[in-house]
Amino acid sequence: MAEAQIGLIGLAVMGANLALNIAEKGFSIAVHNRSPQKIHDLLPQADGLAGAMIGCESEEELIAALKPPRSIIIMVKAGQPVDDVINQLLPLLSPGDTLIDAGNANFHETRRRRKALASKGFGFIGMGVSGGEEGARHGPSIMVGGTDEEFDRLKDILQAIAAKFAGDPCVDRVGPDGAGHFVKTVHNGIEYADMQMIAEVYGHLRDNGQQNAPEIAGLFETWNTGPLKSYLIEITGKVLRARDPDTGDAVVDVIQDKAGQKGTGRWTLIEALTLGQSASTIEAAVAARSWSASKAAREKGQEMLSSPNLDEEKVAFLAISSVELEQALLAAKIIAYSQGFSLLLAADEEYGWSLDLGRIAEIWREGCIIRSAMLDDMAAAARKGLPHGHLMFSNDFANRLAFSVGSLRRFVSAAALSGMPAPAMSAALSYYDTMRLARGTTNLVQAQRDFFGAHGFERLDGRANRHGPWHD
Ligand code: 6PG
Repeated sequence: MAEAQIGLIGLAVMGANLALNIAEKGFSIAVHNRSPQKIHDLLPQADGLAGAMIGCESEEELIAALKPPRSIIIMVKAGQPVDDVINQLLPLLSPGDTLIDAGNANFHETRRRRKALASKGFGFIGMGVSGGEEGARHGPSIMVGGTDEEFDRLKDILQAIAAKFAGDPCVDRVGPDGAGHFVKTVHNGIEYADMQMIAEVYGHLRDNGQQNAPEIAGLFETWNTGPLKSYLIEITGKVLRARDPDTGDAVVDVIQDKAGQKGTGRWTLIEALTLGQSASTIEAAVAARSWSASKAAREKGQEMLSSPNLDEEKVAFLAISSVELEQALLAAKIIAYSQGFSLLLAADEEYGWSLDLGRIAEIWREGCIIRSAMLDDMAAAARKGLPHGHLMFSNDFANRLAFSVGSLRRFVSAAALSGMPAPAMSAALSYYDTMRLARGTTNLVQAQRDFFGAHGFERLDGRANRHGPWHD
């Protein structure tokens, strides 16, 4: 019986929780997974939910269970597995059916898939879903890329399952084509930067401040009641409080300092560079994860490379108050978000997506990993229009930076002095300083380029001479 309103393929953690969320909101859902055990495990959990959940052991069963035109969410590992699922479904679909890739896809892949499916009369939506397991189950933030018509068909379900900020569902169509996945990629890039900056502040407190994990947890708990209030600050407090049941030590102290990454952070900066931009805070965060993986080399480096000498005066300089640390993190965070927003605008210009930055910031106010108290104000700033596309030039955030960037300077100085790596915080400060100087130093770079390559340069006075007298 074709009765289900929506289908979902892929019942790993995210897919299973999303399916339960959909059923809970009263929609009937047909679910399928390659290994049927996951279907059998999930169905009992859906007992008693408002919407029916129908388990389907084959793609054919799934197709038969869905009301046409069908909408099928694909929640499998990004990359080839998505193409595999699409290829299995293709012969079974009818014109007008729509597939929705809800994984962390590379938006170029989404554009390719969309084009291929459109040529066969099928819809394809690239949908960014943020919020991890908890978000998928109880309210994620959802960034949809597709046509208005495609979004309208899914709107009721997506608005019901999304997180809400003061009643406003954190979901919208952000643009056509690959826009949904691009926006999610940039979200993840900002997530990387935010996490790295937090880790750098933790590093200062641990190594320069000699504070233990519960002491640092206390600071994060306090910061989560102020302007830094955000999901990542909140979970950092919780992470630092947690004890390892085997040793009784703080869990964070028994974890190897080698970070993994699945690719979205890297994609963000690849796109930034391709678009002639830079997202240096995100780049720093990706680099920090990559370098962290070279543990053996760093152990050798500790033997081989000299460390700074700290006299009493320098040690005294390292004592940064918690209020200053809070402000330093706040400034760096604003700068990272500003880079993310500028990147969205650059992609918008390239692809003509008509992205609404204000709405994107609104969608990020709840449910997603980078949700933070500041996002509502960022949305308001974006709605007013960002001068030259820079969040940091909006009155509100320029004022906040005027107040907080001195603390970021202090933090980066202390990091440099003590030899503590702070790549993301330093990148944020350098970017800020670059953008606040009308006259930088690339006049010299232009002269050098002209010297060895006759690349030419523009003169300040506008005169026509475009080459230097280097070889006269
Ligand atoms: C989210 C997260 C989620 C996941 C990413 C990042 O928004 O819910 O970003 O999508 O954590 O895959 O993972 P990596 O850190 O492994 O790249």
